[in-house]
Amino acid sequence: MNSKVLTVVAPGKLMLFGEHAVIYGYPCIVSALDKYIEIKGKIIDEKDDKFDIADYSDGFIRRMVSVFRIKYGKKEKIFISSKSTLGRYGLGSSAAISVATVKMLGKLFNIPLSAEELFNISYEGVLKVQKGKASGFDLASSIYGGTILFDGKTKKTSYLNKGKLPFLTVFTGRKAKTVDIVKKVAQEKLRNPKETEKILSEIGKIVLRAERALKEKNWKVVGKLMNDNQKLLVELGVSNGMIDKLVKISLESGALGAKISGAGGGDCILVLVERCLTGKVVENIEKSGGTVLDINVGIGGGVKVSL
Ligand code: MEV
Repeated sequence: MNSKVLTVVAPGKLMLFGEHAVIYGYPCIVSALDKYIEIKGKIIDEKDDKFDIADYSDGFIRRMVSVFRIKYGKKEKIFISSKSTLGRYGLGSSAAISVATVKMLGKLFNIPLSAEELFNISYEGVLKVQKGKASGFDLASSIYGGTILFDGKTKKTSYLNKGKLPFLTVFTGRKAKTVDIVKKVAQEKLRNPKETEKILSEIGKIVLRAERALKEKNWKVVGKLMNDNQKLLVELGVSNGMIDKLVKISLESGALGAKISGAGGGDCILVLVERCLTGKVVENIEKSGGTVLDINVGIGGGVKVSL
């Protein structure tokens, strides 16, 4: 057992391609960000756990602690505090804090956890919090960092890239409720199984084409695939007026591609733009009410114990 205070950092994420379809077993592509959750923790000699969590509910942390305790038969109480540079833009803070907590518990109790074990424990916790409706792609992103292909069926991960990608991250001004939007798609799938399945499988195909284009850094093709993916998300019913407006203005200003990142209904869109046109695209997005965030996509490192 480790009696020291430990610090763990885990990155946030942005989905590049494949949201929603990944829940139904298709692959997706996700990038880690240079914005992180940092938690500090130690074992304490008290009757109850203590959490000092600045920005969000401690529900995910409590659940991770409970899953870990049951799995490894641990009774000791712990203290965890957190701080974050992720803000409230839907950048994966729940996943990052979940992964960071499990990593910390492994270190505190001297239980070595492989990346796969880290995923399995945090995924078990997240499924309990979100009542079975989550693919786990965001946990994988936080564990591995960089840009990865995540298979929604096998939950296996492979690296595409570890460098910075030329995307702008634009906050649409509204927080989205992922669970509600995921539920809405599930209901649509029950009502219109054939049509919905067709959209999801088209998204799956786009992801595999995007994998190749991203590896080749063929930005024109990446942009076109973003636009194709966005059209399918609109058909799926997860876009909204503000997203449509920001996508349109980005493309009219010269961006190569623009699409929802994540569940839709708010949060962020991603815009792919060549450097020479960035100024114009940013200006027009901001005139239309979007906020370009100071985020680098793809360079986040995976979860780690920091010294
Ligand atoms: C949300 O960021 C992405 C979804 O595909 C949900 C998930 O994969 O868990 C909508």
